[in-house]
Amino acid sequence: MEIIEAVTGYVSEAMKTHDSGHGWLHIERVVRLALHIHECEQQGNRFCIELGALMHDVGDHKFAAHDGPAEIRRLLGGFGVDPRIIDEVVSINEKISFSKGIRNPAASIELQIVQDADRLDAMGAIGIARAFNHGGFKGNEIYDPRERLSDPPLLSASRPRSVSTVHHFYDKLLLLKDLMNTPTGKKLAGERHDFMVRYLDQFFREWNSGNEL
Ligand code: ADP
Ligand code: NI
Repeated sequence: MEIIEAVTGYVSEAMKTHDSGHGWLHIERVVRLALHIHECEQQGNRFCIELGALMHDVGDHKFAAHDGPAEIRRLLGGFGVDPRIIDEVVSINEKISFSKGIRNPAASIELQIVQDADRLDAMGAIGIARAFNHGGFKGNEIYDPRERLSDPPLLSASRPRSVSTVHHFYDKLLLLKDLMNTPTGKKLAGERHDFMVRYLDQFFREWNSGNEL
């Protein structure tokens, strides 16, 4: 489909300015996961889901242009995409984030699917890799035992609290399982969540090894 190809070219090019240069590979994984969920669920408009996944991070810090909705309207409007589809892609872009989307019963099925895919990419083995990559980029510690991991979870991005990357698991990554929208998303999230729990268990076992002697 020509529009998908053109949008893919635009997004991959526009993300090249991002720090690690890997923002585009996250988008590719989210597109693949979203289409997989769509096929399992047999729900939603495929074209809209693919565009929504491709453009879900347009306007955020990883991206060259900073007004996501305006950029989406400009680009998709230029391709003559149906205005109802454009509105839906804008809505996905605006509502997808962790902090804004916690309880959103009116969410369209397209938003629910893309949001599940984006959240899944922050979980499991890939989520762990992304978290330490992000923490390293910010110069954060992998873990700091002086932090209280049992503090109430952080549910608002406006007051970022994570200092170490292990703390970020407790602020966000371990909460994602319960925020999944679709049955397929819940199933995939269960596996990825369990892997993170096993990972942390081993992490603390290694951190504390010697203490019990
Ligand atoms: P996304 O790219 O999935 O839309 P973000 O831009 O918020 O979401 O985060 C990108 C990645 O960086 C995610 O995997 C997220 O878990 C991770 N990340 C965000 N904040 C932190 C942090 N304080 N410490 C470690 N990793 C983080
Ligand atoms: Ni994303």
